[in-house]
Amino acid sequence: MSRYAHITGWGMAVPEKILTNDEIALMVDTNDEWIRTRTGIVQRRIANDTESTASLAIEAALKALEVANLRPYDIDLIIVSTSSPEYLFPATACLVQDEIGAIKAGAFDLSAACTGFIYALNMAAQSIKAGSVNNAIVIGSETLSRLVDWQDRGTCILFGDGAGAFVLQANDKPGGVLSAIMRSDGSGRESLWLPAGGSRMPTTFDTVQNGLHYIHMNGREVFRFATRVMVQATREAVEACQLKMDDIRIVIPHQANKRIIEAAARGLDIPMERVMVNLDQYGNTSTASIPIAACEAFENGQVNNGDYVALVGFGAGLTWGSIVFQWTGPILPERKVWPRRYRWLARLRSVLRRLIRYIEGLIWGREEP
Ligand code: ACO
Repeated sequence: MSRYAHITGWGMAVPEKILTNDEIALMVDTNDEWIRTRTGIVQRRIANDTESTASLAIEAALKALEVANLRPYDIDLIIVSTSSPEYLFPATACLVQDEIGAIKAGAFDLSAACTGFIYALNMAAQSIKAGSVNNAIVIGSETLSRLVDWQDRGTCILFGDGAGAFVLQANDKPGGVLSAIMRSDGSGRESLWLPAGGSRMPTTFDTVQNGLHYIHMNGREVFRFATRVMVQATREAVEACQLKMDDIRIVIPHQANKRIIEAAARGLDIPMERVMVNLDQYGNTSTASIPIAACEAFENGQVNNGDYVALVGFGAGLTWGSIVFQWTGPILPERKVWPRRYRWLARLRSVLRRLIRYIEGLIWGREEP
C-alpha cells in the first residue's frame, strides 16, 4: 500500500512588536516610499527580549499540533529550518522537542537559508513515504533582526522575525506532498552570507569591530538570481507530478521582494491573484516566510480541499527549490486532544531529568571519567 505525506496542521507565530518603514527611516537614510516601491514591504515584526527563534518555533508548532489534533508524543520527527538558531549547537529543534514534550521525536536543524522550509518539508515527507516516520513537525523560524546591521540600509529594511510550522502525517489516501525540487550553487556563497562566527572565521575582537557577524548581501546579484530560478524551479516541480500551471490553485513564494514575486508570476504566466503575497505585513522572514504565507492562505480560505499548491523559495547558499502538494486539510479527529496541556508535563519532565542528571553527578562525581 502506498504511503502519502499529508499536511494536516499549520500554525504561525510572529512577535507583537511592529516596526514600520517610517521608524526605520529614523535609524538610517531611507524613507517609506523607497522601501515600498523597491520591496513592497510596509512593516515587519521584531522579537523582543523574551522572544527568540525557539520561542517562536514552539508557539507555531503548538498551533500546528492543535489544528492537526495531535499530542506532542505522537510526533516522530521535528525539523527546524533556521539561519538564526538559538545556539550553534544544540539544535533549536531539540529545544522545541523538550518544551512541547515530544518524547518520541528525533530532532534536528536544517540550514538552507530561505529555501530551508522547502528542503525540510521534503525531508519529512520522504521519511513518511519511506515508512520510518508517521507524524512530523516541520518548522521555519527566524529572528534575523538579531543578525542584521541596523546601520546598513541595504539589508535592515528587508528582514522581519517570525515562525511557521506544518504537521505532516502518513496516510494511504492519495495527496499531500507530490513532488520536490532542491537545488544549490555554492559558488554564490558570498552573494548573501554571514562571514564570521563559524569555524572559518571564529569570533575575535576584529570580527566584531568589522561587523562580520552581520548579514552581508549583494542585493542586485540576489535579485537577478531569484527572478531566474523561481520560474524554473516551480515549472520543474509542477511537471514532476504531471500537472500543468493551470492546475495550480495558488503559488506561495518566498516573501523576499514584491518585484521578484511579480517577475516570477509573469514568467509563470499566472495572474497575481493566484500568488500569495503578505510581505507587506511581515517583511522577509527568511525560511519562515513560506509557512507564514501558507498559514494565512489556508486561514483566509484561499486554498480548498483537493487544491494543488506550489511553494517556491530561494536564498543563501545559494539554494532554491519548489514543492507541489495537494491540500486536504486536517484528518478528522476521533476525539479532541489539547496539545498545549502537555507543555506543563513537558516542563516538569525537563526539570526532573535535569535533577536526575544533577543527582547522578553527585553520586558518580561530576568529573569526566
Ligand atoms: N533607502 C534608500 N536608498 C537606498 C536604500 C534604502 N534602504 N538601499 C539602497 N539605496 C540606494 C543605493 O545606495 C543606490 O543608490 P545609488 O544609485 O546612488 O548608488 C540606489 O538606492 C539603488 O540601489 P540598488 O541596490 O540598486 O537598489 P535595488 O533596486 O536593487 O533594491 C534591494 C535593493 C531592495 C535590496 C533589491 O536589490 C533586492 O530586493 N534584492 C534581493 C534581496 C533579497 O531578496 N534578499 C534576500 C533573499 S534570500 C533571503 O531571504 C535570506
